[in-house]
Amino acid sequence: MSPEKTGPAAVIVLAAGAGTRMKSRTPKILHEIGGRSLVGHALNAARALAPRELALVVRHERDLVAGHIAEIDPQALIVDQDEVPGTGRAVEAALDALDARHPDGPLAGTVVVTYGDVPLLTGELLAELVAAHEADRNAVTVLTAVLDDATGYGRILRGTDGTVTGIREHKDASDDERAIREINSGIYAFDAAVLRDALAQVTTDNAQGEKYLTDVLALARAAGGRVAAVVTEDRWQVEGANDRVQLSALGAEHNRRTVEAWMRAGVTVVDPATTWIDATVTLDEDVRLLPNTQLHGTTTVARDAVVGPDTTLTDVQVGEGAKVIRTHGSGSVIGANASVGPFTYLRPGTVLGETGKIGAFYETKNVTIGRGSKLSHLGYAGDAEIGEDTNIGCGNITANYDGEKKHRTIIGSGVRTGSNTVFVAPVQIGDGAYSGAGAVIRNDVPAGALALSLAKQRNSEGWVVSHRPGSISAALAEAAAPTASSTPASTEEG
Ligand code: UD1
Ligand code: CA
Repeated sequence: MSPEKTGPAAVIVLAAGAGTRMKSRTPKILHEIGGRSLVGHALNAARALAPRELALVVRHERDLVAGHIAEIDPQALIVDQDEVPGTGRAVEAALDALDARHPDGPLAGTVVVTYGDVPLLTGELLAELVAAHEADRNAVTVLTAVLDDATGYGRILRGTDGTVTGIREHKDASDDERAIREINSGIYAFDAAVLRDALAQVTTDNAQGEKYLTDVLALARAAGGRVAAVVTEDRWQVEGANDRVQLSALGAEHNRRTVEAWMRAGVTVVDPATTWIDATVTLDEDVRLLPNTQLHGTTTVARDAVVGPDTTLTDVQVGEGAKVIRTHGSGSVIGANASVGPFTYLRPGTVLGETGKIGAFYETKNVTIGRGSKLSHLGYAGDAEIGEDTNIGCGNITANYDGEKKHRTIIGSGVRTGSNTVFVAPVQIGDGAYSGAGAVIRNDVPAGALALSLAKQRNSEGWVVSHRPGSISAALAEAAAPTASSTPASTEEG
């Protein structure tokens, strides 16, 4: 054990349950709120205690869960629960596995138990629980809450002097006991030795035929230990997600808390109800978020930037003072004081330089755009590199795909391209070059050249009157040029 870790001996996170009410092919604890799996939230709170050991008990969809844990917390010990059901059995399995890792004697000290499906629990509340447990030298300290409707929960039994005497499961409770509104959250701090001894005595002799962890409280008391409760006023922190209705309620509450925390940290959020911010997002002071904005993943927004309305960003870095309006973006970097939108689609690998612009109805992918360059209206830029202070005209397209492979377009600095220029990649445009409207650039353009690629325009005079007789166009053409009914003549203009 490393000296800087001063937390409890272990946290055991229970996650072996089937989660059938979710009605999902995805294991319950892999469902997400705030951009993080339920079990990810649970592990986050557990890790905040800096425990010496962290174990997660699994059984249902074990391999999917274990695979996810290997990604998000590879240090966590995965423990398999056997066919004996119940929270007591789950904790027993974890204790056995942890003891097996300590050849110099069984685990001693404080063991915290939490659930993998209780996502709003914070490290702060867990730390309060552990502090109370250790200050009073308790054998067991249980986290409880007082609910208006306690149906389904285990009830906290207290003696006439108020001391906690045990927990009764709803299914095993009498009518009088069911009237108790103080519930067991299922989150506890235990003394490891007391827990080990008590679990050895717990039976499956109850309404559900399970090994109840809750039985440990009465057993610990009978053995002379102190049993106490920490009552939380914040019911959200002990609420589990059992079905999709609870999942969305917890998701909304998580978001409300996240948005409020950012507002307190100096972010303006015009409409908190339609602003969704993942737990993993970072915002600077004086950022402004306009309605209907979703910020996901590793998105960061720097000072004075304005994002929204109607914008979804996933893993996007927004630079200081940038403006991002009505945009859907992922895996992109937006430079300081740059502007994006409205109606803009930034795909991964887009890097927009300082003061640059990607305007309306643009799609970009895997493109680096230098400082001050502008792609203002209607187009596609993919697999490209654009220098500084270049102006890309309206409707320009990089034709990057030949049907089999992608090719690059490299455009220099100070370039001005005409409307509707198509770059047939691979192709390079030198610094300061121009292109005419409608140019199809198939060959490299040297620095400073004007590239034109159009055939000359040909006007077939009188064509409408002779080919569309009787039409409104023909009538108006005749009114404009009464002689136009004569035999068509062709002129060419360059
Ligand atoms: C449990 C408590 C109850 C408490 C409630 C709070 C017991 C006996 N009862 O009831 O007092 O009010 O939680 O939500 O502990 N799990 C396992 N292995 C198992 C069974 C469950 O790992 O064999 C895990 C589940 O994945 C879940 C947690 O333990 O995360 C709670 O299981 P659940 O079946 O929901 O317990 P409840 O019956 O609701
Ligand atoms: Ca439950």
